[in-house]
Amino acid sequence: MKGIVLAGGSGTRLYPLTHAVSKHVLPVYNKPMIYYPLSVLMLGGIREILVISTPSHIELFRALLGDGSRLGLSIEYAEQPRANGIAEAFIIGSSYIGNDPVALVLGDNIFHGPGLSALLHDQVKNVDGCVLFGYAVRDPERYGVGETGEQGRLISLEEKPSAPRSNLAITGLYLYDNDVVDIARNVRPSPRGELEITDVNRVYLQQGRARLVDLGRGFAWLDAGTHDALLQAGQYVQVLEERQGVRIACLEEIAFRMGFIDAAACYERGRQLQNSEYGTYLMAIAHADR
Ligand code: TTP
Repeated sequence: MKGIVLAGGSGTRLYPLTHAVSKHVLPVYNKPMIYYPLSVLMLGGIREILVISTPSHIELFRALLGDGSRLGLSIEYAEQPRANGIAEAFIIGSSYIGNDPVALVLGDNIFHGPGLSALLHDQVKNVDGCVLFGYAVRDPERYGVGETGEQGRLISLEEKPSAPRSNLAITGLYLYDNDVVDIARNVRPSPRGELEITDVNRVYLQQGRARLVDLGRGFAWLDAGTHDALLQAGQYVQVLEERQGVRIACLEEIAFRMGFIDAAACYERGRQLQNSEYGTYLMAIAHADR
């Protein structure tokens, strides 16, 4: 399965922070924001990843992540000139996707919880149609909302409903079979001028081939698109890391634990960053495993 991290958009809700830089490189406590969604794809065992961003920001990501080999990944880059909608990712990425299924994660979404890797591995194995991930929220009317029927089948999908049929918000992580490329090509822009991911999902819903997995209440799903959300996400990461002594979305650690890189490579990366706690952490976990 191929992976896409969509890290374009305008970030207008974060002005003036995002006048000169992409929101996806802003710090969420001690790492750039994009580390968090990228870590989700890695936990799902996905190693071929396309990062999509705006022409003015794409070089930032190239500088940050390179060709991915440091993480045992292959990372390529593509541009989205305008924020034409999330579903445009599949058109921009069509040749990259080729004949494969694809996972899409939004660059400002943070997922953390027990069993995420196992859950993703399970779902990634056999995608027939699409798999969406739902998260119970207090204010579903602000989100795309899904309702599940038998065996996790999605039975309704509503965009910002005034009277939501469930409290499950559709999160920014989506798995699709290869039909998604053709489906996205046939979606027409919405009244706000965007190719809406909800319209893509609705096609799968109509075909009876959409599943909705409830992440459950032990999970954290945060998006970091506003000033308060950005600060809260940082505080969440800080509290957990401080309390448990482990790192959330430490890419080298994940690469090491997933077997994408070996202990020596993890240690070496730590040594390069040894002036930071991030670096000493990498050296310690690589060392512990030797
Ligand atoms: P949004 O938060 O909906 O939009 P935005 O990032 O442009 O921010 P704002 O509303 O403050 O102007 O986007 C969700 C994620 O999807 C975010 O990580 C950016 C990404 N995105 C794109 O890369 N391209 C797009 O065309 C859209 C709509 C979003």
